[in-house]
Amino acid sequence: MAKITFLKTGAVHEIADGSSYLDFCQSNDVPQDFGCTVGSCGTCALVIEEGGDNVNAATEDEKDVVEMCSSDAHARLGCQLTINGDITLRPAEV
Ligand code: FES
Repeated sequence: MAKITFLKTGAVHEIADGSSYLDFCQSNDVPQDFGCTVGSCGTCALVIEEGGDNVNAATEDEKDVVEMCSSDAHARLGCQLTINGDITLRPAEV
């Protein structure tokens, strides 16, 4: 099991390794905004403050969307994340 820590609220959740962050949030009433759920709108942008190596790598398409929707250069799209280990995250700046 991996741990997701939310800096904004201090909440900590456990998640099975290899899980989709989107599926996890939707199944556990986690307060994460989503829009399209397919990596094109940027609504779900977040920043992984710790454990960035514990998620799948960003694709070029994801990087392009992040660049358009956030001033955080290293933001990720929550709907595109697969969790493979402990991470700490916060909402991205828009
Ligand atoms: S919900 Fe639209 S990019 Fe993630």
